[in-house]
Amino acid sequence: MDITELILDDHHEQRRLFAILEQIDRSETGVLEAIWSRLARFLELHALAEEEIFYPALLKVGVAAHRKSGVEDETLDAIGDHNDIRDAVAAVGRHKVGSDDWFEAVAAANLANSDHMAEEEREGLTDFRRLAALSRRHQLAVEFAAFEARNYAGVESVDKDPEEYVRKAERGLPTGNGGSGGSGGSLSIGPMKKN
Ligand SMILES: [Fe+2]
Ligand SMILES: [Fe+2]
Repeated sequence: MDITELILDDHHEQRRLFAILEQIDRSETGVLEAIWSRLARFLELHALAEEEIFYPALLKVGVAAHRKSGVEDETLDAIGDHNDIRDAVAAVGRHKVGSDDWFEAVAAANLANSDHMAEEEREGLTDFRRLAALSRRHQLAVEFAAFEARNYAGVESVDKDPEEYVRKAERGLPTGNGGSGGSGGSLSIGPMKKN
C-alpha cells in the first residue's frame, strides 16, 4: 500500500459523490440529504486523516531533505484549504435540502474541494512520493486506513490555524482534534488561508 494512493482513492470517491448529487432530481430530498450527509462526513474525515497522518510526515521528510520552506508552504496552503472546505460544508447545512441555495452551496463546496485536491495531488502527494521510501508510504497507508476506519462515523469539525499547525507538527506535538474523543489544542478561529 501507499498513502498517496489511498488519498487519491478518497479524492476519486469525493468526485464520484459530488457527481452523483448533480444527477439526482431536486424533488428527491431524502436521497439528496442521505448522499450529502455521507459526503460531508467523508470530507471532514479525509481532511482530518491527512492532518493527523500525511502532513506531519510530509513536513518531516521535507525538513530532512532540506526542502523545509517548500513543504511548509504546501502544508500552510493545505490546512487553510481544509478550513475553507469545512466552512463550505457547514454552509450547505444552512439551506433547505434541494433548494437553489442548497445546490449553490454544494457547488461551492465542490469548487473549494476540487481546487484543493488538484493542488494537493500536484504538490504534496508528488513531493511525498519523491521524498519518502515505499516502505514508509506503506506504513503510513496502514495508519491512514486505520484512522478512517476507527472514525468512520464522523469527526468533530474544527478549523486550525495553519501556522500553529505547522509549528506543532514539526515538533511532533498533537495538532488538534485527533479523531474520536480527541479535541486537545484545537483552535476554532475560522479560515486563515495564507495566500
Ligand atoms: Fe487535503
Ligand atoms: Fe486530500
